[in-house]
Amino acid sequence: MKHNVQGNTEGIRDALLRQLDELYSYEAEEGEFLPRELMRLLADYSCRLNREIAVYLTRDGEIVHVAVGTDCDVELTDFRLRRNARRLSGVRCVHTHPDGDGHLSDVDLSALKIFRYDAMTAVGVRGGEPVNVQTAFLVSERDLLMPEAVPWYRVPDRNWLEQIGISDGLVGREETDESDEGPETAVLMGIESQESLEELRRLAETAGARVAGCFLQRRDKPDSALFIGRGRAEELARECQAQDADLCIFDEELTGIQARNLEDILRVRVVDRTMLILDIFARRASSAEGKLQVELAQLQYRSTRLIGQGLVLSRLAGGIGTRGPGESRLEMNRRRIRERMTELRRRLEEVEKQREIRRKSREKNGTPVVALVGYTNSGKSTLLNSLTGSQVYARDQLFATLDAVSRRMETAEKTEYLLVDTVGFIRKLPHALVSAFRSTLEEAALADVLVIVNDGSSREMAAQHDTVEQVLSELGAGETRRIEAVNKCDAADPWPTFPGAVMISAKTGEGLEELKERIADALQESTVTVTFRIPFDRYGLTAQIRPLGRAVSENYTETGTELTMAMAREDVNRLVRQYGTEILAENGQNNNKNE
Ligand code: GTP
Repeated sequence: MKHNVQGNTEGIRDALLRQLDELYSYEAEEGEFLPRELMRLLADYSCRLNREIAVYLTRDGEIVHVAVGTDCDVELTDFRLRRNARRLSGVRCVHTHPDGDGHLSDVDLSALKIFRYDAMTAVGVRGGEPVNVQTAFLVSERDLLMPEAVPWYRVPDRNWLEQIGISDGLVGREETDESDEGPETAVLMGIESQESLEELRRLAETAGARVAGCFLQRRDKPDSALFIGRGRAEELARECQAQDADLCIFDEELTGIQARNLEDILRVRVVDRTMLILDIFARRASSAEGKLQVELAQLQYRSTRLIGQGLVLSRLAGGIGTRGPGESRLEMNRRRIRERMTELRRRLEEVEKQREIRRKSREKNGTPVVALVGYTNSGKSTLLNSLTGSQVYARDQLFATLDAVSRRMETAEKTEYLLVDTVGFIRKLPHALVSAFRSTLEEAALADVLVIVNDGSSREMAAQHDTVEQVLSELGAGETRRIEAVNKCDAADPWPTFPGAVMISAKTGEGLEELKERIADALQESTVTVTFRIPFDRYGLTAQIRPLGRAVSENYTETGTELTMAMAREDVNRLVRQYGTEILAENGQNNNKNE
């Protein structure tokens, strides 16, 4: 069995190694520098082994590393990130002294300076019990603050935690002011295809990174431990160093173990495609619902990967892959992630109820919906703007639109409809996102007519179209009536071939009249105009029919009410099945335009 405990584990029984492994699930509560129970456990294990044990805690109180040493030392680990080499590392080191003396040694203090831990703590251990504890902090590049050793049960948690905050302000601040840091430098690694990698580059740039290198290693199946081969990983590590990279982005989903192993070798933050897309979504989401959904998707993704989560990522202060919606930083602490997820779910339920009410009221009005769907960046928002003369955010970026935007429109025949813009699709769209963005994607799923916007200027048009079809069928919209449009014709070279599609340019306006006509025809095909004759004794039926569409006219005759409606053919059929043909005027001889 593979254990997560590092260092000198030789000769330690499996059962004890398993207990040591469990230290990873320990967390310090808020306001707790060093949990007492953890101290007792460390003392107990250290005594049984007669070896030093070191644990490393993040500022969120999580244990990210456990190592066993010899009877007089333990190898201390470097947690600094290249970019923040002068800052505190964000991790405090707590280790045992099995000889009973908790005073820090010179070696401990020089490790504190070199590795810039938040704090360095030694716990003296005798007879399996903790005795005394001493902690030191950096207060400048070279100077230390080292209060007297205290009995183990008198650790001044609050003071020591506050001192970390103070030290953080004092050490290496000026040189690494965040605002001077500029864009993060990323190196990309793919295993599928050049096209997919190229798209990853666009995604990385959209997230604000500077891409310093792209590498492709074709593999049918990723390596289970490292995703890529070890030799390749080492080459990549050299590349990251040469480029002074902040992060390495992988073009597939990584498991928690893979991410952690890769971070150990690469020594930079490791982010996968899904985290990158979630990061972009987090920064783009603008509606309250969108923000809740994306944060929940981020935390869900993270919580399935916390075991063995990369050390670098788990204690990082910011950067791609760690950002939640708006300016928020994503929760990293296991316990708090669970609490936050419950809270987000509760709030989402409330918002969803409201959305349901809005949708119901729209259904009541019977306004048909036409949804613009298509690959990200194909020009949907620009098209919505050109068709409606409104201003929707359109940018040469991936996923400029996240929240469903809708505008009221009218055909030449005065049929009203809602035109909605939807989130762009993308290959390998993370599943968490498809469900997270149900609300905007639902607009597509429930639409009466879909306009599929294809990017005619992209050489990838056919592959993108396949992705769109695939996502649509996943959403249950595979059968919805559709109009194919090839956009960006002004920039297309060579001229794209797409039989049956309408050629348009949202930018120049070319082809838009034809598109509008096709939309009107498609709506017409799904809408019929019918006259109902309802006897007075069944007057209640009119109230039932009216909300199903648009009332064209309503007349009262001697025998009852004649109600002419423009409504969905399906609804007419349903009513006839339920109440018989006698509810139609002149024995079913109605003025149904499209029959
Ligand atoms: P997502 O929000 O990512 O789904 O993008 P989108 O499909 O809504 O695309 P958007 O309308 O934001 O347009 C993407 C880019 O394509 C912008 O830079 C537009 O200016 C450009 N674009 C859109 N339509 C046309 C067109 O007809 N011709 C040309 N040349 N560029 C266009």
